[in-house]
Amino acid sequence: MTDISIDIDRDVASPLARQTLLDGDLTRPVAGGRPIRILPWLQIVKIGGRSIMDRGKDAIEPIVDELRQLLPEHRMLILTGAGIRARHLYGVGLSLGLPVGSLAPLAASEAGQNGHILASLLAAEGVSYVEHPTIASQLAIHLSAARAVVGSAFPPYHHHEFPASRIPAHRADTGAFLLADALGAAGLTIVEDVDGVYTTDPNGPDGAQATFLPEVAAADLVDHPGPLPVDRAMLDVMANARHIRHVQVVNGLVPGRLTAALRGEHVGTFIRTGAAAA
Ligand SMILES: Nc1ncnc2c1ncn2[C@@H]1O[C@H](COP(=O)(O)OP(=O)(O)OP(=O)(O)O)[C@@H](O)[C@H]1O
Ligand SMILES: [Mg+2]
Repeated sequence: MTDISIDIDRDVASPLARQTLLDGDLTRPVAGGRPIRILPWLQIVKIGGRSIMDRGKDAIEPIVDELRQLLPEHRMLILTGAGIRARHLYGVGLSLGLPVGSLAPLAASEAGQNGHILASLLAAEGVSYVEHPTIASQLAIHLSAARAVVGSAFPPYHHHEFPASRIPAHRADTGAFLLADALGAAGLTIVEDVDGVYTTDPNGPDGAQATFLPEVAAADLVDHPGPLPVDRAMLDVMANARHIRHVQVVNGLVPGRLTAALRGEHVGTFIRTGAAAA
């Protein structure tokens, strides 16, 4: 009988065929290159749930006006964070003993509610809310039909959420950054209610000592002892970024800051990632 195994090997030739995927030294020559940019013209804007949406009409209407005026200039994926309702959910869910994987989608659905609010206000401009599967597989066609779409910034981990803490570690900033880097987007702007990142919470008990950081490396924030206005898990993801070299945190309560940021101006805090220059 003829041994056909050699022929089969040749038919499925692959540089990774004969090695484990667990050895970085072996996989790096094949997998270590920079991936393509899928949507290089896309601007991603993350709107804070707590900092903007929870403030209601007074904060939301001006930012929606600014987003509306940006539509002719940029194609955008607008992602919303969760706010007060997620905090209430965490409180009730934790008191009932719910695991992190049950809490994560509940908080994500509140981020989605905030997205539906923004999408309703921008609907007349052709902007709609899209769910995660649409972002995953049909973002390009939606963005050829409309200048922007809105989605939930939370990543869809559900029961895959890491059990590092009972509060989901991968929240809106992490989800927005994962998408921005995976799509090779032109930029990610994180909209808050403060001018950027400070050495400590400017609204906290030590606020008088808070010093503004115009620019900081994500790697330096990892060990920062105090509170931060962005998810710590985002900083971990930033260490392995492939495309996005920095994100900018800006104050959405100051008219024009978001517009300036999307035009590449330095009007908030640049958080530098580990991505190498192109
Ligand atoms: N080091 C810091 N620098 C700047 N702001 C800080 C810092 N630490 C804490 N904060 C506080 O973080 C607040 C924003 O809160 P947070 O980031 O939870 O809101 P958010 O981004 O709108 O929420 P979400 O991520 O759910 O969308 C700011 O108003 C500020 O008081
Ligand atoms: Mg924040």
